[in-house]
Amino acid sequence: MSEKYLLEVKNLTKRFPIKGGLWGKEVGSVKAVNDISFKIKKGETLGLVGESGCGKTTLGRSILRLIEPTSGEVLYRGEDILKYNEKKMRDMRRKMQIIFQDPFASLNPRMTVGGILEEPMHVHKLFNSSAERTKRLHQLLDYVQLPKDALNKYPHEFSGGQRQRVCIARALAVEPEFIVCDEPVSALDVSVQAQVVNLLMDLQKELKLTYLFIAHDLKVVEYISDRVAVMYLGNMVEVAESHELYGDSMHPYTKALFSAIPHPDPNGKQERILLEGDIPSPMNPPKGCHFHPRCWKAVDDCKMSYPPVYDKTSSHQYRCFNPMN
Ligand SMILES: Nc1ncnc2c1ncn2[C@@H]1O[C@H](COP(=O)(O)OP(=O)(O)OP(=O)(O)O)[C@@H](O)[C@H]1O
Ligand SMILES: [Mg+2]
Repeated sequence: MSEKYLLEVKNLTKRFPIKGGLWGKEVGSVKAVNDISFKIKKGETLGLVGESGCGKTTLGRSILRLIEPTSGEVLYRGEDILKYNEKKMRDMRRKMQIIFQDPFASLNPRMTVGGILEEPMHVHKLFNSSAERTKRLHQLLDYVQLPKDALNKYPHEFSGGQRQRVCIARALAVEPEFIVCDEPVSALDVSVQAQVVNLLMDLQKELKLTYLFIAHDLKVVEYISDRVAVMYLGNMVEVAESHELYGDSMHPYTKALFSAIPHPDPNGKQERILLEGDIPSPMNPPKGCHFHPRCWKAVDDCKMSYPPVYDKTSSHQYRCFNPMN
């Protein structure tokens, strides 16, 4: 594998078994992530979008093995980390971190910020003296632009935006290379969302970080991402450079999703595509392309089999038998 790609995900699948009946037998499964493959270059941000329940969080957590994938490969610098034993995986966790949507729920309310930031450094033995520890703690606060007196305060003493800064500092404490940002600004006031997004972008440049950035807000995703992947009901239906997805999307689902956000259009017209019908259950997805019951461009093939991956360009892939362009 070339060093160009930090992460290569191959045919990743996660099914959650559903137990039922008197004997707790498996009666079915939720196919949360289906045969997904993609690559992320070092220093790149790959955005991940799709409606609620389409499998974004499951994909992010499966890559980090916070939940165990059912099958597939996750190559990190060319090595399949799904084959790592516990000890090797523990060391690996330093390189791969996650930032959650709700900064309050992910911080221990009984620990000071100093304690919260020190814990991961302690686990990975990242300091040898108390002077070194203090220096490192101050550096972390500098990174996220919090004052030094934050160390002695508790999570409830901060605003939502500041708490998310603490979470970012905690993720940075172990000097990671790759961070899954799972809706890191969705729970914040709109006025502070941009500040946190800009902070993440500045940190990326400074520390050469690689992001998988999950979000509902397409504008935010477009702004922060180099490329964007679109998921629908457990499948990745399209991935392209972020500026291409709005104007040159190939998949009707992407087209519909992005038609909902206002864009300055040189011709002054913008067609909003309203999708009919609900998202089907991931327990029992439709045969063929999962999107076909809601798709206005569906042809017979779409009802029969799931479309393969087509290349529009080397950086733009889609899975559709009857694409937009
Ligand atoms: N532990 C679990 N057990 C069973 N099913 C689960 C579990 N976790 C997630 N699911 C199901 O897997 C599917 C994907 O969920 P996931 O949370 O990954 O979606 P998401 O795209 O992150 O949604 P949101 O935008 O709301 O965060 C959903 O149908 C969900 O109900
Ligand atoms: Mg989620």
